[in-house]
Amino acid sequence: MWRPLQRMKWQTTPQPWPTQAEAAASLLFSPIQVGPLQLSSRTWIPAMVPWRATPDGYVTPANLEWYKRFAQGRPAVIVIEATGIRDIPSGSLLRLGDDRFIPGLSELVRTVHEASDGYTRVFIQLIDFLAIRRRPDPATYFSRHLQIRQHHRDALNMSLAKDEQVRDALARLSKEELRQVLDFREFDALEMGYRERVTDVHLPHIRDLPYQLPDLFGRAAARAKLAGFDGIELHYAHAYTMSSFLSALNTRDDGWGGSREARARLPLDVYHAVRKEVGTNFVVGCRFLTTDIVDGGNRVEDAEYFAQLFARAGMDFLSLSRGGRFEDAQQPKVGQAAYPYTGPSGYECMPQYISDEQGPFGRNVLPTQSIRQSLRHAGLQTPVVVAGGIYDFAGAERLLKDDSADIVGMARQSLADPDWFEKVRTGHGEQVRLCRYTNYCEALDAKHDVVTCELWDREKLDDPEISRTPDGKRRMVAPRTFVNSN
Ligand SMILES: Cc1cc2nc3c(=O)[nH]c(=O)nc-3n(C[C@H](O)[C@H](O)[C@H](O)COP(=O)(O)O)c2cc1C
Ligand code: SF4
Repeated sequence: MWRPLQRMKWQTTPQPWPTQAEAAASLLFSPIQVGPLQLSSRTWIPAMVPWRATPDGYVTPANLEWYKRFAQGRPAVIVIEATGIRDIPSGSLLRLGDDRFIPGLSELVRTVHEASDGYTRVFIQLIDFLAIRRRPDPATYFSRHLQIRQHHRDALNMSLAKDEQVRDALARLSKEELRQVLDFREFDALEMGYRERVTDVHLPHIRDLPYQLPDLFGRAAARAKLAGFDGIELHYAHAYTMSSFLSALNTRDDGWGGSREARARLPLDVYHAVRKEVGTNFVVGCRFLTTDIVDGGNRVEDAEYFAQLFARAGMDFLSLSRGGRFEDAQQPKVGQAAYPYTGPSGYECMPQYISDEQGPFGRNVLPTQSIRQSLRHAGLQTPVVVAGGIYDFAGAERLLKDDSADIVGMARQSLADPDWFEKVRTGHGEQVRLCRYTNYCEALDAKHDVVTCELWDREKLDDPEISRTPDGKRRMVAPRTFVNSN
């Protein structure tokens, strides 16, 4: 796991919490219009994959329990975890690539609405991602995966040798020699595991993504609406397909890459296809990056350009995240897949308590502010959601007052204490269990293990009523310590 060079340990130190009257008069707890919907407050739980779906992508009782627990805290919005738009095996991720997934997701929507007494709106994050393989054992890579090509023969002076002989010769080379003999992608596949890129236009299914994705997203969106969701968040952030189209690293020269305008073409086509399916009276927005962080990737100026395009196209909200790319991910162990939250860009996406002099809190606020300002200067009023290391009322309220954002997202703080919103709204902020930004939860996500929080997952384990992880060692959801009596 990458860590900043200048290491300092940071602690969450909340400023005084508001009384109930102060909370009632605050911006944070005031309503806001998002497209056709009025939200009860400016609070938002961003998408978090909890690894609770079935291996074939259906909602489980554990998913229902997880989202019910968040809904009991009554945030204005819960964005359901990244949900695949294709009907292909994707581990324990939710899917929406076929009508058979609708009934489970409808139950999830009902669960959230009921558990929050109608306070909480529930959106779903729709994602597409490309194939990624585990880092191979070098012997297997050379004997089976690598395709022997002319440049290998030339470099090894083995023009007439059989493929097997070339494979054996490659397997005997040192890392430095391999760096000279293999091309960039071959060396990367050996060191990191093979991964498809949006620039792999020699592969027909990658070349044709711009012709297939609008329809796939559109149909998934139609199903989301049928399932009863209040809105859709298109996942244009982090390491996945749509973010990679937007990225300055997208050098496709077929009209779908290169200039900013060409990079935004597919994300706009996807949006229009989705809008056509769900109509204008339904919330559709997207999540994208204020900056890619990685070398050669997008910077805030790119994000300002995209924000204006998306707002003009009619998106109802723009949610801004940061980093989380594969390009600077750390090398995985043999047999494991690269995880896009392990390098410097991953650090910026989910900053943790061992940080630099800037600390892990609110690192995405200033870039979000400049993107929001560029929208307002252009006369565009689209609400902007910010997230990243926000945990206390004073910080949230300040960034709203400073016009840095319109809505405040808290992912890990909501996991640490799903009752944050009700505790603070009713003047009981001192009871909040503060996230320590240790990233224990993120390490579970990296292993595709059931996500829990270390602050509560060993509590009252002897209670026969609670559900536990398959190994019985952790509770699945936060204990209820606060019941609103107001
Ligand atoms: C366990 C876990 C799973 C996550 N899954 C997603 C996801 O499905 N989609 C997404 O856009 N971000 C995901 N994120 C990132 C969060 O939404 C959020 O952007 C990030 O944690 C920073 O916000 P925070 O400091 O409030 O936690 C995940 C984060 C965690 C900790
Ligand atoms: S495990 Fe809990 S305390 Fe640690 S970062 Fe995750 S939510 Fe915060």
